[in-house]
Amino acid sequence: MPKAKTIYVCQSCGATSPKWIGHCPSCGEWNTYVEEIEISSPKSKRSVSNSMILEKPLTLQEIPLGKTDRFSTGNSEFDRVLGGGLVPGSIVLLGGEPGIGKSTLALQVALTLKGKSVLYISGEESLEQIKLRSTRLSDENGQCLFLSETLLENILAQIDRINPGLLVIDSIQTVNTEMIESGAGSVSQIRECTAGIMKKAKAMSVPVILIGHITKEGSIAGPKVLEHVVDTVLQFEGDRNFMYRILRASKNRFGSTSEMGIFEMRHDGLRQVSNPSELLINSEHQGLSGASIAAAIEGVRPFLIEVQALVSSAAYGNPQRSATGFDLRRLNMLLAVLEKRAGFKLVTKDVFLNIAGGIKVTDPAIDLAVICSVLSSNFDKAVSMNFCLAGEVGLTGEVRPVSRLEQRIGEAEKLGFSKIIVPAANKGIDLKKYNIGIARVKNVNEALRILFKNDN
Ligand code: TYD
Ligand code: MG
Repeated sequence: MPKAKTIYVCQSCGATSPKWIGHCPSCGEWNTYVEEIEISSPKSKRSVSNSMILEKPLTLQEIPLGKTDRFSTGNSEFDRVLGGGLVPGSIVLLGGEPGIGKSTLALQVALTLKGKSVLYISGEESLEQIKLRSTRLSDENGQCLFLSETLLENILAQIDRINPGLLVIDSIQTVNTEMIESGAGSVSQIRECTAGIMKKAKAMSVPVILIGHITKEGSIAGPKVLEHVVDTVLQFEGDRNFMYRILRASKNRFGSTSEMGIFEMRHDGLRQVSNPSELLINSEHQGLSGASIAAAIEGVRPFLIEVQALVSSAAYGNPQRSATGFDLRRLNMLLAVLEKRAGFKLVTKDVFLNIAGGIKVTDPAIDLAVICSVLSSNFDKAVSMNFCLAGEVGLTGEVRPVSRLEQRIGEAEKLGFSKIIVPAANKGIDLKKYNIGIARVKNVNEALRILFKNDN
């Protein structure tokens, strides 16, 4: 007979304690311990002493490569972030804030998947609601089965019965098992249910997309253990006020985590944005000061983005510095470089920086465009929108080499820019190969001379 005992579980990291504590020693959060009932069933004793049943360790050559062939979901942006498609038996956790479009994305993937049956289990929406949503989307998959269910035992039985080619669970926080007494969404429930689904999925080689909610702090609600056990963690992000949605992998056992998928939320669902540059650049800004175009790379994909700056005299003693989509500390560093190395006085100025389109860029190669936009706004002199910039700026004002410069130049050329300013430190670039004008600069001053001289 299993024994029930009470434990306290941190809802943030999943640490346990026999008595209530206010401050979690494991993750440092306050007031996260909640009483839960744990049923400890007597563990079956595994005999390891008998060498007859010990498995033989294998060399790499001996390990059979079986069913790991990935398959395309039919949604190329989703595939890109997964690393080329879904791997049978893998568990993908799709996290994001409420209303960002997780259910829409999962439904679209379920409906575009070709040649495989899909089981879509929703504990959040009724079947009617799903039907209503699907009528807004244009895709249809006759092999997609829908079920409104929250009990783990029933879900597992359904997987057995249907043996789907893909399983979608919306969301893991609504699934609960009878084995545990605490309510749905609690740490023990999430942990137990994920483990149950995972065991079944691995045994039957069914790929699973698990939808998970995100807490205010931005981590997937529930314990961190969830992120440890799944194979891939995807974050769906974006500002609800912007139409762009960005899908990133923060963990991927079957691919790189540097890839990024871009979608646009429309009235008929999520549209894949395969050429982000076209969306992120506004050609109407020609002739306006404070904007310049950077050739950035996220993952392996180059795209051009507009960097906007507004510099004005500070109304009060302390000048304001604010950056959206760019690291504020890096902006402060670049302003200090401008002051010290190029002799521009910006101490008494408010500086606001914005990466157009509401996306966040971590690529240091946009430094040069940041500097250029700031000065353009400061002197109210427009930079030609036919120019594009790529270059990291160092503390001495030098323009440092950037990664994959050829791809950046290629993208700028493809989009019809007439000139790109690149670091001279990037060696081995075949200038003759391109039709676009390439200016190679050693430091910030050289770049500014080209930009502002050409413009007047
Ligand atoms: P949803 O997928 O329900 O978000 P989540 O599952 O992450 O909570 O979608 C949320 C928003 O998307 C909803 O507020 C309406 C919007 N939306 C559209 O703009 N167009 C559409 O075609 C669909 C289906 C949703
Ligand atoms: Mg949803």
